[in-house]
Amino acid sequence: MKSKILVTGGTGYIGSHTVVELQNAGFEVVIVDDLSNSEAEVVDNIEKISGIRPIFECFNLVDREKTFEFFKKHNDLKAIIHFAANKAVGESVEKPLMYYQNNLISLMNMIEAMRTYGVENLVFSSSCTVYGQPDKLPVTEATPRKDAESPYGNTKRISEDIIKDSVAAYQGINAIALRYFNPIGAHPTAIIGELPRGVPANLVPFITQTAAGLRQELKVFGDDYNTPDGSCIRDYINVVDLAKAHVVAIDRLLERKYESRYEFFNIGTGNGVSVLEIIKTFIDVTGVEFNYKIVDRRAGDVEQIYADTAKANNVLGWKAEKTLAETLQSAWDWEKKVRGIE
Ligand code: WQD
Repeated sequence: MKSKILVTGGTGYIGSHTVVELQNAGFEVVIVDDLSNSEAEVVDNIEKISGIRPIFECFNLVDREKTFEFFKKHNDLKAIIHFAANKAVGESVEKPLMYYQNNLISLMNMIEAMRTYGVENLVFSSSCTVYGQPDKLPVTEATPRKDAESPYGNTKRISEDIIKDSVAAYQGINAIALRYFNPIGAHPTAIIGELPRGVPANLVPFITQTAAGLRQELKVFGDDYNTPDGSCIRDYINVVDLAKAHVVAIDRLLERKYESRYEFFNIGTGNGVSVLEIIKTFIDVTGVEFNYKIVDRRAGDVEQIYADTAKANNVLGWKAEKTLAETLQSAWDWEKKVRGIE
């Protein structure tokens, strides 16, 4: 058995797909999750896919005592992938203190526990949201970060700085931040996928729920942007491709292949795709029509953002492989499985 890796938020959407890829790569995985935004049965589903049941402990890393108890018990951890955080942009605007407390205190407790118990390697789940609306596209890692559009985005930026300063101050910690663009799709087995609670905030789960008949219609938030078809452009990345980027980052840290002790990479496809193009591709691929209507812009949306992936491709040694078509098909296969649709 290869090294033991802690995945916080490991029953979540990206976390669960990453646990599967870590297991496929031979790592032993421990999940810590408070199940505030995911279900315990995801652990069963991970086992169904990989044949290996990850260790699962249910608590919130904001609880300092439980966090230290955990690290004392699992004192053979070789690295951590940190997903656990609240991540709803809109909710963060309504409840900023909850976001700052949950997302930042949990990270600081974890770094303190890393120092105490000698865990040296951290991969952090960051987001392209730290770039705001970039002045120049595509976005490279040298693109200046901008003031976040939401408290959620601000917690990602502050977390990156907490990690950067901790790496500088504590010789025993090395870190990689992965700045995701827009993760979409589901595992090809349709055994795990995105399962948003309540009304989905994100585009693709709203599309699949509308196509499944759970939602009346998709609202397209604006077609008057300065883009070819007027709708916003994003860089949609397959969640399994994204999960594999974490395994590459873990190997880079464990094998000390890094060029500096704190690195960050844009994890995207490099292709900008509009909302209307996503809709058209989904319908073309699945053959399923659904209602949608153009409405006013959504506050806080950036007009367009997509990644320059040269650093991830050439330095990290990772590249997105799956097409948009197969990714949208995987999202639809997952929705059909969840809703019992043939
Ligand atoms: C994509 C596009 C919407 C819903 C957010 C976070 C980011 C990351 C991913 C966590 C936009 C449009 C959406 C709908 C629509 N989250 N849209 N109708 O806002 O790019 O990124 O989620 O890490 O940090 O900021 O993703 O899927 O919400 O929106 O027209 O019902 O789809 O306007 O242009 P976003 P999204």
